[in-house]
Amino acid sequence: MYRSHNCGELNASNINTEVTLAGWVQKSRDKGFMNWVDLRDRYGITQLIFDESRTDKTVFELAKTLGREFVIQVKGTVIEREAKNKNIPTGEIEILVSELTILNSAITPPFTIEDETDGGEDIRMKYRYLDIRRNPVKNSLLFRHKVAMEVRKYLSDLDFCEVETPYLIKSTPEGARDFVVPSRMNEGQFYALPQSPQTFKQLLMVGGMDKYFQIVKCFRDEDLRADRQPEFTQIDCEMAFVEQEDILNIFEGLTRHLLKEIKGIEVDKFPRITYDYAMKTYGNDKPDIRFGMKFGELNEFAQHKEFPVFNSAELVVGIAVPGAGNYTRKEIDGLIDWVKRPQVGASGMVYVKCNEDGTYKSSVDKFYDQDDLANWAKATEANPGDMIFVLSGPANKTRAQLSALRMELATRLGLRNPEEFAPLWVVDFPLLELDEESGRYHAMHHPFTSPKPEDMALLETEPGKVRANAYDMVLNGNEIGGGSIRIHDKATQQLMFKYLGFTEEEAKAQFGFLMDAFQFGAPPHGGLAFGLDRLVAILGGQETIRDFIAFPKNNSGRDVMIDAPAAIDDAQLKELHIKVDIA
Ligand code: AMO
Repeated sequence: MYRSHNCGELNASNINTEVTLAGWVQKSRDKGFMNWVDLRDRYGITQLIFDESRTDKTVFELAKTLGREFVIQVKGTVIEREAKNKNIPTGEIEILVSELTILNSAITPPFTIEDETDGGEDIRMKYRYLDIRRNPVKNSLLFRHKVAMEVRKYLSDLDFCEVETPYLIKSTPEGARDFVVPSRMNEGQFYALPQSPQTFKQLLMVGGMDKYFQIVKCFRDEDLRADRQPEFTQIDCEMAFVEQEDILNIFEGLTRHLLKEIKGIEVDKFPRITYDYAMKTYGNDKPDIRFGMKFGELNEFAQHKEFPVFNSAELVVGIAVPGAGNYTRKEIDGLIDWVKRPQVGASGMVYVKCNEDGTYKSSVDKFYDQDDLANWAKATEANPGDMIFVLSGPANKTRAQLSALRMELATRLGLRNPEEFAPLWVVDFPLLELDEESGRYHAMHHPFTSPKPEDMALLETEPGKVRANAYDMVLNGNEIGGGSIRIHDKATQQLMFKYLGFTEEEAKAQFGFLMDAFQFGAPPHGGLAFGLDRLVAILGGQETIRDFIAFPKNNSGRDVMIDAPAAIDDAQLKELHIKVDIA
């Protein structure tokens, strides 16, 4: 038996018991005649004491050879500590060691394995297994497990059945590039790794599984950001014989359950806003509604004077920043520079100070009088003491710029409290999105999403105006899930492929299996998928998903620990029928 207890469970009630512990040496404090060692495992830290007068001489001497991260086993007696540590559960006791076995030695770790570490990001990624020994990373993985368990419990109790779908498949388009795997047995042919199990879960509905879920890896070859990894995990769900309302209710229930069980927070019914409203009001389809600063459109109040910048703009739009009326000229100039950075791309910014006495002072006083500015204040819901910032230009671009400013200001003003949770649904997404480069429409969600029946007629005339039965769940400014009601008949699916620019042959070659299946009695169905990594990170009060993934990739999509991707040898390439020409 390696251990009778773990390193986190002994306390005053165990005093005088004989115990065996095993773990890693976190650090030791050798005072010559007395040597204390912190022994660590997943469950905590227990202090060991080696005392010249009470410990066997060989054990006492051996303890002096222990280095950081040595793996040891000790036997000893639980005794009361003289200097108690109230900060840890084992802080009242220590182990007076009688036997010590070194199970494995360790070379000096490249960074300190404690809560506060001296290791930079790169070195910690290279030695991820050492980073996992640290509480912040370990606790994130335990937290993820807890969320996943609650998800399984909730869905299972509602009769959802977890079914595994294959990883070696054919492309399932979700808007990213595929990772592909060459087939040795089929020369010149490739599998694609799933961007999601979308088509398989629909086939499970045709197969009569009725309620499916899967906590599943998905693979997308896309540029990485803090909330994106090339392989990530979805809570993928699908249901038969449902309408949008059923899906929204069930998965709102799941999120509410998680907030309650994991965070102890009860939330009201989630607000629902349309995509159009979200874009107009927040400039963004994943608005953070923990704070206000809603957009006020000012065309009506700003385009009747001699200010050419506004007169020529498609959209003039502003936000009122609470309590920012006292910003100094320097602070304002700083913000103007901030919106002019290439990442945001505004060409300038107008501001209006809302004085406490109800008057206004603006950067465009030359063009606008107090009545005009009062209208701006009304439209942006500004109060005395606020500052209104106004941008103008092409509508979509300007909204995106003001949205970036809104988020930046909220961060600076401390309005994005990670312990506050503001979920909502965004519904009525457009079915199609115009790709400016190719001039072609592509599916905004994916090609299996059903249009709203009442908008079908617009498909021929104004495709950009057709709305879909598609929805996203948004939490604190992050898209944590999305889904749709699907097309479930062959004719509509065929039509959709046609609108998306597929020839009949292309559609058949890529998705013939799905359209075939629709001929054998496909039930109406729909579903959604949550991004588990994102959900866990946000519930954990963070927005970077990397910390909640055991072995994540870096920003270039590399695993620096195992050094992947890597070249493969010629024999393997030959076997896979791949010729590589590197110029
Ligand atoms: P979608 O593409 O919206 O929908 O993906 C669902 C959710 O997955 C998360 N997500 C990601 N998380 C981390 N890294 C990534 N690269 C990444 N990409 C997406 C997001 C997103 O909301 N098959 C559909 C779902 C459906 O229609 O049922 C789908 O995959 O949180």
